[in-house]
Amino acid sequence: MTFPSMILEARGITKTFPGVVALRNVSFAVAAGEVHAVIGENGAGKSTLMKVLSGVHPDYEGELLLDGKTVRFDGPREAQRAGIGIVHQELNLVRDLTAAENVFLGREPTTRWGLIDRRRMNREAAELFARLDIDVAPDQRIGHLPVGQQQMVEIAKALSLNARVLILDEPTSALSDRETATLFSLIHRLREQGVGIVYISHRMEEVFQVSDRITVLRDGEWVGTVPTAQAARDELIRMMVGRPLTSFFAEDERTTPDERVILSVENLSLAAGVEGRRTRMQNVSFEVRAGEILGLAGLLGSGRTEVLEALFGAYGDRTQGCIQIEGRPVVIRSPLDAIRHGMALVTEDRKASGLVLQLSLRENMSLPSLRRLTRWGMVDGARERRLVDEFIERLSIRTPSREQRVANLSGGTQQKVILGKWLAMTPRILLLDEPTRGIDVGAKAEIYHLLRELSLRRVAVVMASSELPELLELCHRILVMREGRAAALFARENATQEKILHAAAPGG
Ligand SMILES: Nc1ncnc2c1ncn2[C@@H]1O[C@H](COP(=O)(O)OP(=O)(O)OP(=O)(O)O)[C@@H](O)[C@H]1O
Ligand SMILES: [Mg+2]
Repeated sequence: MTFPSMILEARGITKTFPGVVALRNVSFAVAAGEVHAVIGENGAGKSTLMKVLSGVHPDYEGELLLDGKTVRFDGPREAQRAGIGIVHQELNLVRDLTAAENVFLGREPTTRWGLIDRRRMNREAAELFARLDIDVAPDQRIGHLPVGQQQMVEIAKALSLNARVLILDEPTSALSDRETATLFSLIHRLREQGVGIVYISHRMEEVFQVSDRITVLRDGEWVGTVPTAQAARDELIRMMVGRPLTSFFAEDERTTPDERVILSVENLSLAAGVEGRRTRMQNVSFEVRAGEILGLAGLLGSGRTEVLEALFGAYGDRTQGCIQIEGRPVVIRSPLDAIRHGMALVTEDRKASGLVLQLSLRENMSLPSLRRLTRWGMVDGARERRLVDEFIERLSIRTPSREQRVANLSGGTQQKVILGKWLAMTPRILLLDEPTRGIDVGAKAEIYHLLRELSLRRVAVVMASSELPELLELCHRILVMREGRAAALFARENATQEKILHAAAPGG
């Protein structure tokens, strides 16, 4: 069906990579003034389709139409000039440049003498940020900002181009509730102005809240396009995964922690605020027992990430406080110290700190386990391959082979590799920051299952998440952070979403 108002249309698109058919004969269209959501499991082809639409992949079979006329974009710039704006799933900002420099990269306002007009650039960026309710100073270096704020800058950048079609590839995965609300009101405004919006997300509630139509992809193929008003959640999940979701959740898998305390933290503080972050962590104390999963709840910027990073030695000697592991005081001044004490950290920002993108999936995944896999100074290749294959299977990682470079995997698949790498190692203490961000619904269930298995193997787990249902489902106890301090501690039996939200609210 072709609406007269279709802005951008894709017909019969096929896109292959060596060993992978990423899209097979997919058709898709976005109309003026609609929000069109695209959903599907990790590796289903969502980002690839968006990259075809936005000129990143000019080498596809099939046809693109703009206002009903065939076009072929030779590159992203050409698509941009035609009014296609995109916010990619993986942040594309230059860490060493300021927020304003990133927004105006390649089209900086210049003075009469042809020099970059820094004053004007900062002023215009400040106006743009104010309009979008983004709390970032234009001259702030991007690399120092938390991921959520970087994401907002990226969105501001796409919007500053006056796009007719705006593609948002998982824009909210790192945003706070407030930032998400701001983004949604922005999307509504743009829709009223006739912009066509493509919205990719793994969060079903958001898709229902924001979209007019939903297209489902599975294994690189189009499964269906439905009006949101007529869509049912269970039906969409069945379309995405090809089977009903009920089969994912095992029976009651509750585990009980030991009495034995593995990790004890007393008055953990950061001497001064960490650069670019306003949170000052102060006097945070807690204990984690063997086999216990401790949840860290709290708003964005409440200090959850800082607690995990400080424990892991990321702030060197700026961290104060007393850490004991199995009753013995330890000094952790660097991530290397932390690893020596059997700790592992799954970070929030996979590109910067989780993976070596140029290495293969196998090399990335077995890295922390190499000591265990080495005999007589040589890596036991067969054991390594067995371990890697086991996790490829368990996490249903979509890849042509275990030798695939990690850079070529889909965003959510990369996240699975990070998790697999630390789960395979079986650390004594596992720290996780937003472990299921960007992960599809089936793999989430498998990750919960793996965490419960670690709990059975008496690993101490500390997990920060902004998804309360996830914390309530998985954790034995939940520590609520507020403004850099521990605000409340709940046992699972007494914890409810309302209580946690109440404790997390500023000034609450
Ligand atoms: N540059 C590339 N080289 C090789 N294979 C690629 C490349 N980009 C994507 N792929 C493969 O194409 C398939 C589709 O990936 P894509 O990134 O489109 O998935 P996605 O639906 O966006 O998943 P996610 O939810 O994880 O972001 C995957 O199998 C992926 O590994
Ligand atoms: Mg993607």
